[in-house]
Amino acid sequence: MNQQQCEIGIIGLGVMGQNLLLNIAEKNRLVVGLDQDPRKARAINNPNVHIAKSLHDFIHQLKIPRIVMLMVPAGKPVDDVISELHPFLMENDIIIDAGNSHYKDTDRRLIELAAKGVHLLGVGISGGEAGARFGSSIMPGGDRLAYEHVANIFNDIAAKVDRNPCVAYLGAGSAGHYVKMVHNGIEYGLMQLLSESYGLMKYGLGLSNDELHDIYNDWNQGKWESFLLEITANIFKQADHKSDGRLIDKILDESKQKGTGKWTSESALELQLPTPTINIAVAMRDLSSQREERVNFARKYPAPSSASAPAPMLKEWSRPQFVSKIRDTLYFCTIITYAQGMALLKKASLTFHYDLPLKTVSTIWQGGCIIRSALLKDISAAFEQNPKLCNLLLDSNISQKIFQLEMPTREVVAASISSAIPIPAIANSLLYFDAYRSLQPTANLIQAQRDYFGAHTYERIDEPQKKFHTQWEHSQ
Ligand code: 6PG
Repeated sequence: MNQQQCEIGIIGLGVMGQNLLLNIAEKNRLVVGLDQDPRKARAINNPNVHIAKSLHDFIHQLKIPRIVMLMVPAGKPVDDVISELHPFLMENDIIIDAGNSHYKDTDRRLIELAAKGVHLLGVGISGGEAGARFGSSIMPGGDRLAYEHVANIFNDIAAKVDRNPCVAYLGAGSAGHYVKMVHNGIEYGLMQLLSESYGLMKYGLGLSNDELHDIYNDWNQGKWESFLLEITANIFKQADHKSDGRLIDKILDESKQKGTGKWTSESALELQLPTPTINIAVAMRDLSSQREERVNFARKYPAPSSASAPAPMLKEWSRPQFVSKIRDTLYFCTIITYAQGMALLKKASLTFHYDLPLKTVSTIWQGGCIIRSALLKDISAAFEQNPKLCNLLLDSNISQKIFQLEMPTREVVAASISSAIPIPAIANSLLYFDAYRSLQPTANLIQAQRDYFGAHTYERIDEPQKKFHTQWEHSQ
């Protein structure tokens, strides 16, 4: 192949890298790929793809300014590849970091590369293997002019909803990686909620895998539709090819994580923006991985006998009635989870000056990504109506749904707790809602305690904006 012909190069030809390479090549664009393991490129057979033999070869295949996409694991591997590239880079070259990099790393690398006149775009890509191949949701951030230079390629490879590509420029600096991180935080919350709904129906109602398949399938219709519901329904049908029965019953209940959910919670804590559903989802992954301790706990604290009667949830309702309440609960908590994620994006946007277009974020999440769902249309409409909306739950269309779903959620939470079936994310979603809307004061006691033991002062309701300290009469 002639030198300087390829529009874009990809470094890192793992599953995601290979599929993106093919996706780009199929849009009639010449693309060069490089991986330290030459075996990874062997299966790629497309006349628009060139596989470079070395970094030197890779760089010389690229048009100027060079566009280099990194598809390597987050953290040190990204820094390593950037330092290897460094001697070859020229002013106006564009590096696209398309992995799940931490947004603080992206901000640091932006500054380092800017010293050489090189642009870094921090780009979140969601949708896994199938998305990379046939269309993902793409969340780019960084220099706007650099983005304009690559926008056509992104438009080509993004998922389409109503013919519109699920990609848009989101903001300066690490905006893209921040949005992808929060996407993943929401993903953690939704996955935990689904797994709790499964626990309720399997252990509380004694439903079979076939029944679970039918129920999730049924829920995944119309206004409930979502990618995670769809795959959840499919999972219950999957046979185990190694032995009898369904695969789901052979999978060890220890969930792993790569860290993006934890980063979301860490950032939310740093920004002092409550995201309890996401936080508990991270904690539940941590708890699930302590299997040995859980076994010891279960021995020491067997479930209370009141909870061990068959189908304890069914004292008051028929099975179909309770299933429909669980569906409402799942929907209620799903709305709450998106609301927490969007509120975090809003706070981060102000704090880090991203100027995130929240309507656009919820629009590009409607296709290609893991958290795509019909609900995102309502979320998008809410931010279209009021771009400054401080919490999604204040939107009138969303609040109508919340009003309808609140009572069934309360009933499910009460029944689950009395049956000792763990529903931490469901309960936390409801508690977040209850705490948010409560005007019954309790934080006044915390202020009094702080002033009592530490003279930290407090404010009075009848004299705003002033600080007071009291010599508490019963101090020792
Ligand atoms: C996506 C996913 C993806 C994520 C995996 C695994 O949007 O395509 O969010 O980026 O890395 O789902 O994440 P965990 O290993 O942390 O569960």
